[in-house]
Amino acid sequence: MKGIILAGGKGTRLYPITRGASKQLLPIYDKPMIFHPITTLMLAGIRDILVIAMPDSLSSYQRLLGTGEDWGMSFTYAPQPEPRGLADAFIIGAGFVGGHCSALALGDNMFYGAGLGGELESFGKLETGATILACQVTNPSEFGVVEMAPDGTALSIEEKPTRPRSNWAVTGLYFYDQDVVDIAREVQSSARGELEITSVNEAYLKRGNLKVHRLARGTAWLDAGTFDGLIQASQFVQTVEKRQGMKIACPEEVAWRKHFINDAQLDKLASEYKNEYGQYLHSLLNMPFWEQT
Ligand code: G1P
Repeated sequence: MKGIILAGGKGTRLYPITRGASKQLLPIYDKPMIFHPITTLMLAGIRDILVIAMPDSLSSYQRLLGTGEDWGMSFTYAPQPEPRGLADAFIIGAGFVGGHCSALALGDNMFYGAGLGGELESFGKLETGATILACQVTNPSEFGVVEMAPDGTALSIEEKPTRPRSNWAVTGLYFYDQDVVDIAREVQSSARGELEITSVNEAYLKRGNLKVHRLARGTAWLDAGTFDGLIQASQFVQTVEKRQGMKIACPEEVAWRKHFINDAQLDKLASEYKNEYGQYLHSLLNMPFWEQT
């Protein structure tokens, strides 16, 4: 399966912070925001990722991530000149996706919770249809909203409804079969002038091919698109990391745990940092073997 990270948009809700820097490069405590969707996709077993960003920020992403080789990954880059909507990612990424299944992760969505790694691994094995993740929120009108039957079957899906039919928001992580590119090409612009991912999901729903995975209540789903969201996400990561001594969304660690890289490669990456981040990576190699999984 291939992965796409959409790190486009102007981030106007965070102006003036994002006048000079792309939102998904901003720090969430000790790492750039984009490390979250990258590690989410890595945990799904995805090693080939296309990063889509505004043309003027692409070089910053390239400087941060390079080819991905050091992490046992492959990163390629494509510009999105105008924020035309999430479904546009599959039009821009049509050549990259080819005939493969693909996952789309929004650059500002963060997930954290026990058991999520195993769930992601199973979504990464999708062969037909679509799987989306839904999470309960207090403000569903600000998101895509999915209405479900008691057995979890999707009944309707709406983008930012004024009268939401449920409090289940659709999160920014989507898994699709190879039909997604053709479906995205058929999508018409919405009232807000965007090619909505909700229209893509509706198309799968109409085909009877949309699976909704409900995130367990112990799972944290955060997005860092506002001033408060940004600092809350940082404080959340800091709190968990300081308490447990384990990092959240650390790509070098995930690459090593997933066996994309070996001990010697992790050691080399660790040595490149002369700070606490490097010490953490070194410490992984010295963990008792029963904690190394
Ligand atoms: C987008 C999607 C929405 C989804 C949300 C998740 O919203 O359109 O369906 O619930 O991401 O973060 P936007 O960021 O465009 O407001």
